[in-house]
Amino acid sequence: MKKKVVLLKGGMGAERDVSLVTAEGFEKALKELGYPYQVIDCKEDLLEKITAAKNVFKAEVALLALHGKFAEDGIVQSICEYIKLPYSGSGVMASALCMDKIFTKQVLINHDVPTPDYQILEKKDLSTFKLELGLPVVVKPSREGSSVGISIVKEQKDLLPALELAAQFDNYILVEKYIAGMELTVPILDGKILTPIEIVPKVDFYDYKNKYTSGRTDYYLPARLDEKALEKAKSYALKAFQVCRLRCYGRIDFRVDTNGNPFIMEINTLPGCTPTSLLPKSAIDCGISFNQLIEILVEKSSLDYLGVK
Ligand SMILES: Nc1ncnc2c1ncn2[C@@H]1O[C@H](COP(=O)(O)OP(=O)(O)O)[C@@H](O)[C@H]1O
Ligand SMILES: [Mg+2]
Repeated sequence: MKKKVVLLKGGMGAERDVSLVTAEGFEKALKELGYPYQVIDCKEDLLEKITAAKNVFKAEVALLALHGKFAEDGIVQSICEYIKLPYSGSGVMASALCMDKIFTKQVLINHDVPTPDYQILEKKDLSTFKLELGLPVVVKPSREGSSVGISIVKEQKDLLPALELAAQFDNYILVEKYIAGMELTVPILDGKILTPIEIVPKVDFYDYKNKYTSGRTDYYLPARLDEKALEKAKSYALKAFQVCRLRCYGRIDFRVDTNGNPFIMEINTLPGCTPTSLLPKSAIDCGISFNQLIEILVEKSSLDYLGVK
């Protein structure tokens, strides 16, 4: 008998629309694979709805088609943990950690994994912030995704508006050294590295539009990097996956400077999984179909505290 699955979709964050597209693909795969399933839109009354899915529908696994705030950040994972319903992807701590780009950088630095130099500030300190890094810099809300609230600042006059924009999305703001060079992402599935992807937006940087409008960005699998740089990126990706305690899958975003040095920008614990997203593309390149990918996510679902008294 196939496990009964509750598919969690939507969420309340800025990435809700992306999550709904991920969920469409997941639902189609569940249907084709023959899993009995129920779908929940994670807006209001989530605790009651998931509890009912477990107690009435007898769901054995929660498959998370969610991204961003209230979803990728450990909140939904905590609910699953609390009612002892195994769920796909990373646990509570890894999810919360990786949602926060500032804390992620601090853990990476602790483990000698390169990440761009940075400064941090709180929303209340916008007007007194002194930039110590040289321009250009990248300004980001510490906890967002899909490039929401991110600006590349090339001139001093554009700094304050960029800080104000980021502050609309979080109280904590990250100002990061801009790394000129290649954009690279390294997907990991079942603890193993999949084909690294080079990302080349046709105009500007990899912002929301370039991420989700087809034809605006070119992708190269594998990335056109020399072997040495590629091996470095893969080993940093694996180390990041391990030290941040990710489970089953994830996607590590890099910039590689013009000397071939990779720097981790961020770690995605519930990476985009629409049929055209990066991780599924890379899985297909490794001979893993979209349906096989979903099967792995379902079958590897677990609880953090399983077996711990
Ligand atoms: N330090 C950086 N140097 C150059 N480009 C960057 C840097 N940080 C972010 N970017 C650009 O912004 C995009 C989004 O940044 P990222 O940190 O991955 O956040 P998100 O969670 O929104 O994907 C990246 O894909 C890249 O194009
Ligand atoms: Mg990213």
